[in-house]
Order: sequence, then C-alpha cells, then structure tokens
Amino acid sequence: MKEDVYIVSAVRTPVGKRGGYLRNYLIPELLALVLDEVMRRADLDPALVDEVINGTVYQVGEQGFVLGRMGVLASKKFPSTVPAISLNQQCGSSLRAIQLAYGQIIAGVLDIVVATGCECLSKYGMGSDCNGTLMDGKPMGHPFGDFYTSRWGYPDQMKSASMIAEKWGITQEQCEDFAIASHQNAHKATINGYFKNEILPTKGLSKDGKEILMENDETIRPETNRESLRALKVLPTTNFLTAGLSSTITDGASAVLVMSGKKVKELNLKPIARIVENAIIGADPGLMLTGPIYVTPKVLKKAGLKMDDIDIFEVNEAFAPIPLAWAKECQADMSKLNVNGGAMALGHPVGNSGCRLTVTAINELQRRKGKYALVALCTGGGMAPATIYERV
Ligand SMILES: CC(C)(COP(=O)(O)OP(=O)(O)OC[C@H]1O[C@@H](n2cnc3c(N)ncnc32)[C@H](O)[C@@H]1OP(=O)(O)O)[C@@H](O)C(=O)NCCC(=O)NCCS
Repeated sequence: MKEDVYIVSAVRTPVGKRGGYLRNYLIPELLALVLDEVMRRADLDPALVDEVINGTVYQVGEQGFVLGRMGVLASKKFPSTVPAISLNQQCGSSLRAIQLAYGQIIAGVLDIVVATGCECLSKYGMGSDCNGTLMDGKPMGHPFGDFYTSRWGYPDQMKSASMIAEKWGITQEQCEDFAIASHQNAHKATINGYFKNEILPTKGLSKDGKEILMENDETIRPETNRESLRALKVLPTTNFLTAGLSSTITDGASAVLVMSGKKVKELNLKPIARIVENAIIGADPGLMLTGPIYVTPKVLKKAGLKMDDIDIFEVNEAFAPIPLAWAKECQADMSKLNVNGGAMALGHPVGNSGCRLTVTAINELQRRKGKYALVALCTGGGMAPATIYERV
C-alpha cells in the first residue's frame, strides 16, 4: 500500500503582465518570496525541507544555474543546507515538479519537499534557450533537426492550436465566448476575494516606477467582448486566433509544500489536500497541444475515478481551442472548467503554470468544499502531465 502524500500549504504571487509590476525583480528573489511564504503558512522551519524541486522552462540568465537553488540562497529564512533542482518539461514543468516530489516521497527518498514554479517571460521570452551564441560567436542553434522537421515541421504552437480547432470543430465564436468567460470569471473571483487566500501580496513597480504592493493579478480584462476580440489581428499561421484567444505572456512564482503522511502526523500538521494520482503522456508533437485529452482518462483510470467525480478541472488555456477540444473529447461539464478563469485572463508564465493552477485548484476546492480537482497542461513537444487532488 502506497503512503499518502499531502499538500500542507500553497501560495502564489499575483500574475504580472509583460513588463508589468515584476519587471525589475531579480528572479531568485521572486522565488524566495514564495519559498518563505509557503513555510510560514505551515509554521515550519525551512531547515526541515529535504529538497526544493522547481519548474522553469527558460533556464538562462537569472533563471539559470539551478534557479531552485538560487531561490533557496536568496531566501533569508532557508539555510544553505537545503538542496534544489530545476527541471524543464515545457509548460508542464512545475506540475511535473509536484509529481516528482510525490514520487520521491512515495519512494522514501524524501519526506518534505517544496515544489515550485517560477518564470518571468518579460525577461526571458519564448525561445530564450535557443537565442544565445556559441563560443565562436555563431548562433546557438536549436534542437529541431531534420529528424523533427521532416515529420512535424518546425514547431509553431499557434498553428497547432489552429489545427486543433479545425480537427475538433471548435469555432471562432466558441473561442471568443470562452475567452470572455475566462476574463469575467477571473474578475469575479478577484472582486469576490476568492484568490485572497492563495495570493501573496507582492511588492513591485507601478507603470511610472513607484513602489507598489500588488494584491491582484495584473492581466485580467473584464471589459473583453466579442467586438474588442474581433478588432485584434489574426495571428500568422492561424485561421482566426488572436492575442485575445491566447494565453498572455506573464511573470510569476508559486509554491506548494508536499509532505509524506508520516511527517504530517509526526509534525502534527493539518494538510489542505492529498495528491491522489499522477499521469504523464506523450502525444503528437505536430498537433503538440492535445495531451490533456489523452492524459485525462489515464489519470482518472489510475485513480479509479470518473469525470463526474471531479468537482474542478483546471486545463491550461494555452490557446482557447485547447480546453474546448479537451472538453468535447472528454465530455466534460463546462461549468466545472477553469471556474475562476484561465491563462487567457490570468496569464501563462510557462514554467510556473502547473504549480499556479494547482494552488488555484486546491484553494477553490477548499472554498467550495469540493472533493476532487484535476489539473492538466499541454506542453511544447506534445506532452501532458495531469494530477488529481483531494481536499482533506
Ligand atoms: C499570441 C501572442 C503572440 C500575442 O503576442 P502580442 O501580439 O505581443 O500580444 P499582446 O499581449 O501584446 O496583445 C496584442 C494586443 O492584443 C490586445 N489584447 C490582448 N488580449 C485582449 C483582450 N482580451 N481584449 C482586448 N484586447 C486584447 C492587447 O491589448 C494588445 O494590444 P495593444 O498593443 O494595443 O496593447 C502571445 O501572447 C503569445 O505568444 N501567446 C501564447 C504564448 C504561448 O504560446 N504559450 C505556450 C503555449 S503552449
């Protein structure tokens, strides 16, 4: 019989828009904020942490040299005896960090892990890990050799999202309605205070460079409507997708404290969720973003659960057609999907997103006293992790 693995505390920064309030943060210091806060919320000494497992996609510059470890060292509360790793599985990175924390705990290697996500796309944009130069000054290059391009073409996630819309018969109107709902649900959650518990108010810079305390996500546009969406220019290689039907380029960090049942008992802690089951799949790299469709039945089967048993689905809104195709194929109840908005409204700081969605899902389970939440993300390269949480 497997040991139970729990999430004891969870926190995230408000999402920062491109060049927004987080623009001047040294990124390890941003990560240190959520590391400190997740331990403060559990009222636990950071010295007890066996390892930090961090997810970041663009591990260059300030996000390089093992960002997880730099976050630990930037913290004024964590001792340097706490080790860390940073992993990259594209947009699934920090959900995979949680999954690996779970696996290491089940295996008896670790007992107390902080799983984090951290990414500032404002500084290190999409493709930053292929933009540099070699020692001789030539372009660094990229891994998409003939083995890849001859079969799937050069990766273009917008084209993939457009192909998915076409294949699953998702219309422009459906995408627009979904984007409008994303902004409205995120706005409603904000004004009703649903995010208050999960957000760590974070210092940053206003537009004119003054220090501010950001308490809410910076990216929500409640005024979004069909006309404003139709006014945007259609993205190249797509039929009708625009910036408004895509996740936004953002910055942010999040953390969850993952612990073995044994330690939870020993330290007399009150967890907020149990990790029920995990799955990861590979799918067609050309269509690229279909993974949630295939990982959902896999993780449900492993957990012995059905779609109807799940109270909340967080399926990342990389582009509007992705959760819509998922919902169609998995016959999901749309009223349970991204109930407080998704990445079209709340942004998609790629490596941070899996942990951010987890923090939001667990918080919402607590608020509405639901039982199960399922979190899934499509990733570059055609993969998808999914995890099911149970409120405890
Ligand atoms: C789609 C994408 C290329 C758009 O980039 P961009 O053109 O620089 O996008 P912006 O966010 O600046 O938005 C462009 C315009 O649309 C407007 N816009 C965006 N969302 C809007 C909305 N909901 N309502 C009204 N206007 C909106 C912006 O205001 C902006 O106009 P402005 O220049 O007047 O401010 C970029 O957001 C992107 O790459 N997203 C996907 C990221 C991704 O692939 N992630 C991984 C997925 S697997």
